[in-house]
Amino acid sequence: MTMTDQQTQAEQSVQYPENTAGSPYVDGGVKVAARNSNVYYAQKHAIKDVSLDIAPNEVTAFIGPSGCGKSTFLRCLNRMNDTIDICRVTGDIRLDGEDIYDRKVDVVQLRARVGMVFQKPNPFPKSIFENVAYGPRIHGLVSHKDELEEVVTTSLERAGLLNEVQDRLESPGTGLSGGQQQRLCIARAIAVSPEVILMDEPCSALDPIATAKIEELIDELRQNYTIVIVTHSMQQAARVSQRTAFFHLGNLVEMGDTETIFTNPEHKLTQGYITGRFG
Ligand SMILES: Nc1ncnc2c1ncn2[C@@H]1O[C@H](COP(=O)(O)OP(=O)(O)OP(=O)(O)O)[C@@H](O)[C@H]1O
Ligand SMILES: [Mg+2]
Repeated sequence: MTMTDQQTQAEQSVQYPENTAGSPYVDGGVKVAARNSNVYYAQKHAIKDVSLDIAPNEVTAFIGPSGCGKSTFLRCLNRMNDTIDICRVTGDIRLDGEDIYDRKVDVVQLRARVGMVFQKPNPFPKSIFENVAYGPRIHGLVSHKDELEEVVTTSLERAGLLNEVQDRLESPGTGLSGGQQQRLCIARAIAVSPEVILMDEPCSALDPIATAKIEELIDELRQNYTIVIVTHSMQQAARVSQRTAFFHLGNLVEMGDTETIFTNPEHKLTQGYITGRFG
């Protein structure tokens, strides 16, 4: 049986609730609101009518088995799917109440407001300094050299990397260790003062020590930013996030505060996944 047959069978055998279980919406402020989001890759329906809220200054974790659509949905939030030809996104996604898919929206500006950190650290083939300086410079956020140096230093500091690199800012970013490169990418993301940071499995290539550093950092960053993190590690989701969304075959099955999702989930599929019975 192929992967696709298995998925189709699973799709047929599972009864999805008409509405997401738990509490996908928040009462207070909402930073990002998605309503009836659908994503198609040509004929493949990868995200199915997903509606949820992301609260400000919180970490929201996306969990679920491989291929369930976590990265796809994450990429909807800063229109990274626009870069994939066969990909079509429908529905409504708002950042502070503004429709990010509106034709008037400049995607370059949008991605400065909603930054992204990828699974594999991807520093530019430039110096450590230039990796961080690039964004503020192209977005015209700084007017002179001192200001740029200040932004670079502050961003590296906030990313918990400054101490390790301050005597070699002119060395190539690619010469750092994996965990340092990932913190460099986080420094690069925060240098343009984003409001939201999307992280797609940011620790999957890191050892436990580097992972612990990034997790600590994520916890600090939420004071100033809204963070959405995709992770395969349930321990990580439990440690760093305040709310958790569980996806399964493109459906948002359940969402709620992290503690409830991990200790007292409503839906059978969520129970199965968090207890390791599948996925
Ligand atoms: N560029 C693409 N072209 C075609 N299909 C895609 C593309 N990207 C993802 N898909 C399909 O969409 C579905 C969701 O994929 P996605 O990468 O969002 O899953 P995921 O939950 O992030 O998985 P993983 O945990 O393995 O990263 C999968 O069936 C995948 O094969
Ligand atoms: Mg993924």
